[in-house]
This record gives sequence, structure tokens and C-alpha cells, in this order.
Amino acid sequence: MITEIRSASPENIAYAGRLISEGKLVAFPTETVYGLGANALDAKAVEQIFVAKGRPGDNPLIVHIAEMEELSGLVLDVPVNARKLMDAFWPGPMTLILPKRDCIPDTVSAGLDTVGIRMPGNASARALIAAAHCPIAAPSANRSGRPSPTCAMHVFEDMEGRIPLILDDGPCAVGVESTVIDAREDVPIILRPGGITPEMIDHCLGAVRLDEHILSPVQEGTTVRSPGMKYRHYAPEAKTVIFSGDEEKVREEIIRRYDAEREHGGKPVILALDNHNYGQREILSLGSVEEPEAAAARLFAALRELDHLGCTLALCEAVDTAGIGLAVMNRMGRAAGFDIVRL
Ligand code: TXA
Ligand code: MG
Repeated sequence: MITEIRSASPENIAYAGRLISEGKLVAFPTETVYGLGANALDAKAVEQIFVAKGRPGDNPLIVHIAEMEELSGLVLDVPVNARKLMDAFWPGPMTLILPKRDCIPDTVSAGLDTVGIRMPGNASARALIAAAHCPIAAPSANRSGRPSPTCAMHVFEDMEGRIPLILDDGPCAVGVESTVIDAREDVPIILRPGGITPEMIDHCLGAVRLDEHILSPVQEGTTVRSPGMKYRHYAPEAKTVIFSGDEEKVREEIIRRYDAEREHGGKPVILALDNHNYGQREILSLGSVEEPEAAAARLFAALRELDHLGCTLALCEAVDTAGIGLAVMNRMGRAAGFDIVRL
């Protein structure tokens, strides 16, 4: 199959909408990451997503809508906290877990009685949903286990020959996936941190909890609230280690390990914030400490770049977990298998 990349013009969005309504797959931009979309109400179409990604069948998909009116046909109930969050943050980088109606195929929900729903902020994404005349089920458009794609070329790297079309709308503004929230109880719980931060949710509802696996690994046999937590994710080929704590100690330890790796003939690379000095050593910058949004927007591209560089050891500075920093540390932590050295 030839994989075309087309700009997200109105004509190309209309064409992409036709492909989706015919049961085909289209990769499309959102403000978080690129998604791999299919008609969410067509079980056969959705099955192809799992094949193209190599995704385990027990990991459910998020259903994307363009208008509030679509919601009641997909879910049985919208609890009051969920309604408040939608009013505050949709369209935007937030997914709500809600009790699903029977029209959502089991392939989408992976057999759960809930479904994750999101109204993306990216206008091309919403135009595509409108053009397809159906809700769109879409995971991130990477092959399973790889970093999520934040530009059309990342999708092409992973999906060439597997899908007919990638709609290109430039780099994603947020760069990490949506915040996944279960707001069915009084205190909402964040299952995956993302563009809508715990601080924003707390401000909206006066309460918020974090799932215990956001900054720690899931042990074998543990029951998790969100199946995606179980899987190895975002991991580059290189051994990846995170260093947190006192800034100067972190810098010294990274330099020590970098130089040792070089002496053994390896190819170390440092993932660091701009203001820290590593001399001539090879760095991929995540931007400045003052701009955690930039680190979020750059992280996945940096993880892919490690592989392109043939890196054997990735040495990563931890970032502050305030605001969107929590999402950055969650993704970095998972890329490193939560191998975190505290100094
Ligand atoms: O920003 C995003 O959310 C992107 C764009 C394309 O919208 N999509 C995305 O999808 O990140 P995916 O499939 O890569 O991640 C969905 C996550 C998985 O960890 C999955 O386990 C969880 O959401 N999830 C989906 N439905 C769920 C449900 N009913 N209950 C609990 N977790 C759910
Ligand atoms: Mg994903």
C-alpha cells in the first residue's frame, strides 16, 4: 500500500473523511499527538488499527467527537463532574472515561463497560470528524511501544505501507497525549497526565487524585485502572536513565556516566534543559526550565532522535513535576522503565 502525506486542506480533509466513512484508516493531526483514526462504530475498521499498530487487543481506544451533541449517542450518563470538566476544557487535550452505550464495539473499549471520549482542540481534527459523519476512534499513530508521533514524518516512519493517508497539519502544539480522567466519582482521578494539568482540574472541581502508577512502574499481576499503564512505552533502543534531585549533583553524575560510556566505545546522549552546561558533550535540548510546555512539545521528537543518532545510553535530566511537567516525567519515566537515580 502507498502511504500518501497530504496537507490538511479542506479538499484533503473531505477526501480523508470519505476514506474513514468507507472503513479505511487515516492518520490525522490533533493538538496533542497525531492519531490513527477509524470509524468508531465500525468494528471491522477499528480492528485494522490494532493490526497497523501491533497493539494488544486489551488496550482500549479513545473516541473523538467534534460536537457536544454527539456525546449522548455514545455514553449512558454524564456525571456532574465530567460535565463541569467538559464545559471548562473541551475542545482540548482531555479524555473522559464514561459508561459506554452498546453502539461502541467491544474492539474499541477492549471489553470494558466504559469508553474514553475526547473533543480535540485542533480544528482540522474536528473538521475530519464532521466530514466522516461519525465519531473517530484513534490511538496515537505510532507503532506500539514507540514514542507517539508529534509530526507527520514521525507517523510516516512508523506507518509507511500500512495506511493509505496521513493528513499533515505541522507539529503538534501540546506534544504529549491528552489527560485521561475518570470523573465518575466525587474526587476525579487522573489515569494519565497530559495537557490539562492536575492544578487546572483541581481549580475546576476543588479536588483531584493521581493514579499511583503515574510516576512508578506497574508490577506483574497488578490490576490497573487503565490498561495502557501495563505496557512498555515510548522506549528508545538505548538504555535510558533519569537523574533527579540537586542540580549540580545531577550534572556531575550525568557527566561521569557520559564519559564512562564514551570510554567503553558507546554513544551517550544527554537530554537536558538549555541552561545546564555539559561542555562539548552531545545534548538534545528540551528547552528552558522556565518553559515546561516546550519540554512537553519536544520530548517525543527527542526520544525518536536518540534512535536516529544510534545512541547507546540516554542520560536524562528530570524536570519539575508541576503543571505539564507531570506529563513529561510520566512519559520520560516510562521510556526509562522508571530507572530514576535520585541524587
Ligand atoms: O491525546 C490523545 O489522547 C491521543 C490523540 C490521538 O487523541 N490519543 C491517545 O490514544 O493517546 P492512545 O490509545 O495512545 O492512549 C489511550 C490511553 C491508553 O492508555 C488506554 O489504556 C486509555 O487511554 N484508555 C482508553 N479507554 C479507556 C477506558 N475505557 N478506561 C481506562 N483507560 C482507557
Ligand atoms: Mg499511545
